[in-house]
Amino acid sequence: MKDSKQFVQENKQRLLDELIELLKKPSISADSAYSQDVINTAEAVKESLEKAGCDIVELCETPGYPIVYGEKIIDPALPTVLVYGHYDVQPADPIELWTSPPFEPVIKTTDLHPDGAIFARGACDDKGQMYMHVKAFEYMIANDALPCNVKFMIEGEEEVGSVSLGWFVKRNQEKLKNDVILISDTGMISNEQPSITTGLRGLSYVEVEVTGPNRDLHSGLYGGAVANPINVLTKMIASLHDENNHITVPGFYDKVEELSREERDEMAKRPFSLEDYKQKLDIDDVYGEAGYTTNERNSIRPTLDVNGIWGGYTGEGAKTVIASKAFAKISMRLVPNQDWEEITELFKKHFESIAPAGVRVEVKPHHGGQGYVTPIDSIGYQAASKAYTDTFGVTPIPVRSGGSIPIVALFEEELGSKSVMMGFGLDTDAIHSPNEHFGVFNYLKGIETIPLFYKYYTEMMK
Ligand code: BES
Ligand code: MN
Ligand code: MN
Repeated sequence: MKDSKQFVQENKQRLLDELIELLKKPSISADSAYSQDVINTAEAVKESLEKAGCDIVELCETPGYPIVYGEKIIDPALPTVLVYGHYDVQPADPIELWTSPPFEPVIKTTDLHPDGAIFARGACDDKGQMYMHVKAFEYMIANDALPCNVKFMIEGEEEVGSVSLGWFVKRNQEKLKNDVILISDTGMISNEQPSITTGLRGLSYVEVEVTGPNRDLHSGLYGGAVANPINVLTKMIASLHDENNHITVPGFYDKVEELSREERDEMAKRPFSLEDYKQKLDIDDVYGEAGYTTNERNSIRPTLDVNGIWGGYTGEGAKTVIASKAFAKISMRLVPNQDWEEITELFKKHFESIAPAGVRVEVKPHHGGQGYVTPIDSIGYQAASKAYTDTFGVTPIPVRSGGSIPIVALFEEELGSKSVMMGFGLDTDAIHSPNEHFGVFNYLKGIETIPLFYKYYTEMMK
């Protein structure tokens, strides 16, 4: 029986080639022009699970994209691990900023990835990380090293809010029954200092629309005499933060969980260089809520950000015009105890209330989800910690992430089990950005580490 390290060494090229094939499929869930590609990707994931050794693999139909479900039950008396991941990816634009085409994966070296990184949309988020689980499972089956039952649930709508997965989970509680949920869709501090994600932020995503006159107007003939929706919208948005960068929506902070001094001191112990952070982003300073550090601002504190804003003339040259409408997409990242539907309501009420006479404002809720925190004394966390310690030679640090995977809170609600978030990506891997990549080291380390999680988890559950 080989160990997972040997397996990775002996199969390195094949493991990379197979992931590269999967990354060629443009499974962009947000854009219906790619719907056939999304479905083809689901098929490919299904085949990979069949080949790896699942007894049952199905494409489960939903109102949206199918969910790939697979299982290998070796003994109903043993624990069951449910693996969650997603096969959909973010849109690739702005495409002109990619140094190689987003769906033609290539391996290039970077400062942080001297052994090379695979550049492609979805390389890290989440095809590469999801596929580590398929390959780790393949290893366990081929080497008689699977110590417990496994179920796979790989969805195709994570990047657009997991609506169909919510529908599926509510209808399949028995089928999805498990002892722990295992997810690789987050990151870690660095290749030298692994970490395990113990928290995710919640999310409320809204679109706002400001309407002024019934048509676009000549900005000379009418300018100064009617409300300009773009001027008004930007002013309203600017008022959403005060001079300390606190969010001004009344009630927004009412339920925010405040961490104790001890918890914050503990957090501050993680290795972090502000100089390095600024340098990697080419910024001369950081910016954010007064009274909090950078790592607090991006994890334990809620935020409000404009994600996109448009209206009026943006083509070549100049056009003198007062637009009839202006729009923005706004996301609010939430922390434990804030309820996303309640926050959405508070935002809507406030935003409508600050609209001046002369415009109409509409707030359209888009999607959202609750935040999540998980304890480090659970068997799942402890097993993951031991697994990383074996393969990295360093004990992983628990870290609360600023990102969101809204479905994780719903898993706990509907299935009653905790999620263990074993991420292997780096924050600098440019997920959702041009030139997304995933380190070859990280991909292979993931495949090596995951089987050890199964081993320790099963042992510790006895
Ligand atoms: N995998 C990410 C979330 C993530 C990345 C969490 C890194 C922690 C560390 C996920 O695919 C994602 O992008 N989620 C969205 C929310 C979703 C509702 C579109 C997000 O966080 O913006
Ligand atoms: Mn993801
Ligand atoms: Mn994502």
